[in-house]
Amino acid sequence: MSGDILSVAGVSKHFVGRRGVLDALRGRPMPVVHALEDVSLAIRRGETLGIVGESGCGKSTLARCLVGLHQPDAGSIAWDPAALGGRPRFRASQMVFQDPFGSLNPRLTVGSALAEVVGVHRLRPKSEIGARVRELLEQVHLPADAAQRYPHEFSGGQRQRIGIARALAAEPLMLIADEPVSALDVSVQAQIVNLFLELQERLALTLVFITHDLRLVRHLTERVAVMYLGRVVEVAETQALFADPRHPYTQGLLKAVPTIAQATRPAGPAITGELPSPLAPPPGCAFHPRCPIAVARCRTERPALLPDPAAPGLARERSAPDAHRVACHLAPQAAATAPA
Ligand SMILES: Nc1ncnc2c1ncn2[C@@H]1O[C@H](COP(=O)(O)OP(=O)(O)OP(=O)(O)O)[C@@H](O)[C@H]1O
Ligand code: SF4
Ligand SMILES: [Mg+2]
Repeated sequence: MSGDILSVAGVSKHFVGRRGVLDALRGRPMPVVHALEDVSLAIRRGETLGIVGESGCGKSTLARCLVGLHQPDAGSIAWDPAALGGRPRFRASQMVFQDPFGSLNPRLTVGSALAEVVGVHRLRPKSEIGARVRELLEQVHLPADAAQRYPHEFSGGQRQRIGIARALAAEPLMLIADEPVSALDVSVQAQIVNLFLELQERLALTLVFITHDLRLVRHLTERVAVMYLGRVVEVAETQALFADPRHPYTQGLLKAVPTIAQATRPAGPAITGELPSPLAPPPGCAFHPRCPIAVARCRTERPALLPDPAAPGLARERSAPDAHRVACHLAPQAAATAPA
């Protein structure tokens, strides 16, 4: 299994925020939240891609764009038609939320909720829907009698299994899990993470896993995209990212995780200072107000997410899928490729 199934190119998403009465009277413009800025990323068939970054950096907005819940303001999100194999786009990716309870209808039994998804997408003749519901419950290790029960009768971990079963009911190519275990007890988290791993292998799914938890990223993912204020600032194979984080923000993030072995933790300070408002991202490199090694250039010139100079075909993500890419004027590869 190889090749990209989805290419995100130059995607931006802005939200118009609220303006106070005084600002409105003074004729001040509506504030604009820069949730995503020029994000380019290719997602490979069958991979587990982690997306990490502080709260508010745009992870959920990116997830929502990937599943079509948001339309980007700029850029494109394109599926590989061969990978889609005739599936409609809206069914190709399905989301698993942090709190599946919020998205489960409390008045529908679990069986009816799953049957509804199968029926809406016309994935089985009516006579086979019951068997498909049993199969879905079995895939997420819930007992068959779960079909007759209501969401409130289940524990948090079981509800997450129901959320996953509902996503699988649409027979997607890709699951996008947005903090799917952060609301669960630690012991239950491990079970759900293992379920994702098992399903991915069994169903050859592509998995995008959004989390704050770098230990989970290390355990579960093959590749990681690190986001900061709406931008991807570093992308690398998980092993490479943990062994050799190149962006000062990533270095700070890893520093802040006490359980990541000392030997693999980068030198230098953890991140200090407040996250700037996405209403007014700093000019130049958005990380410069917090960056311990910023130079004058960082305040005015935005560093691009450059491909690895060692990779063939420098210009595009697609041509360098294994590249360790980083958006920093001072990162080793940027220094190697920047014009003199
Ligand atoms: N529908 C919306 N309307 C207005 N602003 C929004 C909307 N959705 C997100 N935002 C803003 O966009 C920015 C990015 O939000 P997003 O939810 O994508 O971040 P996140 O990385 O998922 O954060 P968290 O880790 O807290 O879930 C935030 O400033 C958020 O307030
Ligand atoms: S571009 Fe400059 S401010 Fe941004 S991360 Fe690199 S060194 Fe720090
Ligand atoms: Mg979020």
